[in-house]
Amino acid sequence: MTILVTGGAGFIGSNFVYYELNKHPEDRVVCLDALTYAGNLESLEEAMKNPQFRFVRGDITDRAAVEKLFEEERPEIVVNFAAESHVDRSVEDPGLFIRTNVLGTQTMMDASRKYGVKRYHQVSTDEVYGDLPLDRPDLFFTEETHLHTSSPYSASKAGADLLVLAYARTFGLPVSITRCSNNYGPYHFPEKLIPLMITRALADESLPVYGNGLNVRDWLYVEDHCAAIDLVMRRGREGEVYNVGGHNERTNLDVVKTVLRELGKPESLITYVKDRPGHDRRYAIDPTKIHNELGWLPETTFDEGIHRTVQWYLDHQDWWKHILAGEYQNYYEHMYGNR
Ligand code: NAD
Ligand code: DAU
Repeated sequence: MTILVTGGAGFIGSNFVYYELNKHPEDRVVCLDALTYAGNLESLEEAMKNPQFRFVRGDITDRAAVEKLFEEERPEIVVNFAAESHVDRSVEDPGLFIRTNVLGTQTMMDASRKYGVKRYHQVSTDEVYGDLPLDRPDLFFTEETHLHTSSPYSASKAGADLLVLAYARTFGLPVSITRCSNNYGPYHFPEKLIPLMITRALADESLPVYGNGLNVRDWLYVEDHCAAIDLVMRRGREGEVYNVGGHNERTNLDVVKTVLRELGKPESLITYVKDRPGHDRRYAIDPTKIHNELGWLPETTFDEGIHRTVQWYLDHQDWWKHILAGEYQNYYEHMYGNR
């Protein structure tokens, strides 16, 4: 079977490519990725050596290129990871998020219809549900929670989700959607909280915590997310949404302190900076459905996952130093310079 993975040179996509090649060595994995700032061929170096893997550079909004690839590969399963994924960047340039996340999803689904794929799987996010109050620990996002977005990023992901469900109902496209909480692990671009804090702490630089640091995220080790997607795209019910999360809620401050402890660095590196506009307070997933229907449970505890992640960044300094040496410096200055 051939699986087409879009966005496979990004954080979760590259982890997913390795997960599939290891777990299902009989399947072929084709990666379509535009190699934006977030895409990195160094993350796929090992995969490139595997004859079951093919990398194709291309944009998911480029209809002709997408159709040409479907014509060549005739994938049975399409998994759409490709997206603009960073909330802060969506505040700077909402249009790019609409283009990639909504129009790109439409293009991938049109091709999936035309070539009759067995499953189109959309990788979505818990951010489509908006946020929960900090003083109601009894509340969780279920698949029935209303969509209620806060940022251009989450609105573009919710728009894509609605389009996916519309293609299922109107055209009978066999779809599924997973909505996952915050991931962390290897190959995570250092604009996001955990890798940003690891790489800056290693250089003894200040650690910019937004607002009072008490916003809560529900952290999941990336491999557990990959396992969930693999189960849903192969065995999940058609037309269904599955929430994915590990009941692992932490304040941002708690996460940053854990990283510092793991690195043996002082908490005095923490600095409080101006808050993100529209900053979601708390995310918390109820994963009962995927557990009951598909037996999925997270396998990696936060302590173990953070330990492995920090070790990965220590062992792969070239990977992130190459990123930090490029356009990233302008990004950091622009976003944090006057904060
Ligand atoms: P990422 O930003 O690390 O990677 C995105 C990848 O998509 C990059 O390789 C980039 O080059 C590629 N891409 C961007 N625009 C493209 C285009 N027009 N055509 C082809 N490729 C393009 O993102 P990530 O954190 O790995 O997230 C992957 C997916 O998972 C996204 O859809 C995101 O919304 C979703 N998600 C992420 C998280 C998380 O915690 N990171 C949690 C839940 C869901
Ligand atoms: O919940 C899933 C989502 O998780 C995904 O859909 C997104 O693609 C992914 O980027 C992530 O979104 P967040 O906005 O939660 O992740 P981020 O790492 O940007 O921020 C996590 C928290 O840390 C958030 O409350 C903001 C805060 N933060 C972030 C950065 C980058 C800081 O305090 N300082 C920072 O420098």
